[in-house]
Amino acid sequence: MEMSSTLGTALITGASSGIGSVYADRLARRGYDLVLVARDRERLTAAKSRLSAQYCISVDTLEADLVERSDVLKVEERLRSDPAIVLFVNNAGVGPNGPLLSNDLDYLDRMVALNVVAANRLAVAAAQIFVARKAGAIINTASVVALAPEIFNGTYSGTKAFMLSLTESLAADLKDTGVRIQAILPGLTRTEIFDRVGSSMDNLNPDMVMEATDMVDAALAGFDQGEVLTIPSLSDAGLLDSLHAARTALGPHLSLKNPAARYGAPQSIAS
Ligand SMILES: NC(=O)c1ccc[n+]([C@@H]2O[C@H](COP(=O)([O-])OP(=O)(O)OC[C@H]3O[C@@H](n4cnc5c(N)ncnc54)[C@H](OP(=O)(O)O)[C@@H]3O)[C@@H](O)[C@H]2O)c1
Repeated sequence: MEMSSTLGTALITGASSGIGSVYADRLARRGYDLVLVARDRERLTAAKSRLSAQYCISVDTLEADLVERSDVLKVEERLRSDPAIVLFVNNAGVGPNGPLLSNDLDYLDRMVALNVVAANRLAVAAAQIFVARKAGAIINTASVVALAPEIFNGTYSGTKAFMLSLTESLAADLKDTGVRIQAILPGLTRTEIFDRVGSSMDNLNPDMVMEATDMVDAALAGFDQGEVLTIPSLSDAGLLDSLHAARTALGPHLSLKNPAARYGAPQSIAS
């Protein structure tokens, strides 16, 4: 008889390599059953055999190309119909293949379809489903370039800024629902992401590249500590607090009846 995990099941997209495959390993080690989602059937099957044997958990695989809406709906349906799923790792994504000004526009469309359209649908679906069950957690893979768009391909950075905004907004919606959400913001992490677009991490400053195992272990430590945003390389957490403090200070000035004086508009008379 197959035993099911007392922790429940984690569904991980992009589980066939890199960051997602490390999440699969670490969550299996914690005792979660798994649903592994990606396109590469061979890799999914190999991961299923290895993880179920090594950690005595149940592993299911779901082949899906998340650029295709019909496959996104298949994953959504799995989230909806499987009440054992308590953790959704929304991780599948592709990186940029060169500078934006010489980029192939169709490639950028596919990147947005995967990194934004699919990721958004599945994150919001998971949030709605988990709220109805009054339990669950979502981990969204963003990136540090969400905070530094000027240093990297703008469409890719934009997709990751989307994930950051979505997470911060959902975190507010999910307050007091029993459902948690975290965005992880990795810096350069050694995976296949650059190899897949004909590039490599080998020429980068090695002091800036984290091993995927270290990155996921740090991200899970942040998750355990209840963080909404986790930047694995950030030692001085006060810097992130300062960013939030600056944003909070801007708050009262962001939507007002009158344009600012420097734009030549009439000001209301101060009382
Ligand atoms: N590595 C970094 O430096 C870094 C930094 C910040 C954020 N990230 C983010 O981390 C996430 C994981 O990337 P990674 O670095 O681990 O890269 P990776 O090793 O290339 O892994 C990408 C994963 O996404 C899956 N995937 C790609 N296209 C897909 C599609 N159309 N449908 C379904 N699954 C698809 C791949 O599986 P299949 O090919 O089997 O489908 C693979 O499992 C991405 O969201 C990426 O943007 C990475």
